[in-house]
Amino acid sequence: MRSFVPRSPALLVAVLAAGLAVACGRNDSPTERRYAEHCAACHSTGASGAPRRGDAAAWAPLRERGIPSLLESVKRGTPAMPAKGRCERCTDEELQALIRLMSE
Ligand code: HEC
Repeated sequence: MRSFVPRSPALLVAVLAAGLAVACGRNDSPTERRYAEHCAACHSTGASGAPRRGDAAAWAPLRERGIPSLLESVKRGTPAMPAKGRCERCTDEELQALIRLMSE
């Protein structure tokens, strides 16, 4: 059996890009995993009126306030969202990454 070794640089780049696309498609970055674990239940469904992930119209006025302000309300909790979205062990950095993920 011949091993698969790309012979041209262009092919190598194509193979790497395909691998990256597969990795991204599997949604297994740490932030994606945290999102799935802690935020998706509300922010993917819009449950209790949560702004949905990737809903540009819903997030525009929130992004306007800036990430630091959003981080504060997540940490404090809002009327319909438990403090830290129930991710007690999430650090500020992780929460900010989650806010970026869902608001972009
Ligand atoms: C139990 C449902 C629920 C979970 C879990 C949840 N949220 Fe929310 N979130 C909401 C709702 C509902 C709102 C809209 C504000 C309100 O109605 O209280 C909201 C609003 C927000 C906002 C905007 C805050 C503002 O000031 O308006 C951010 C940012 C946010 N959530 C981030 C997160 C992150 C990050 C996680 C995961 C760590 C998370 N949420 C988990 C329900 C949830």
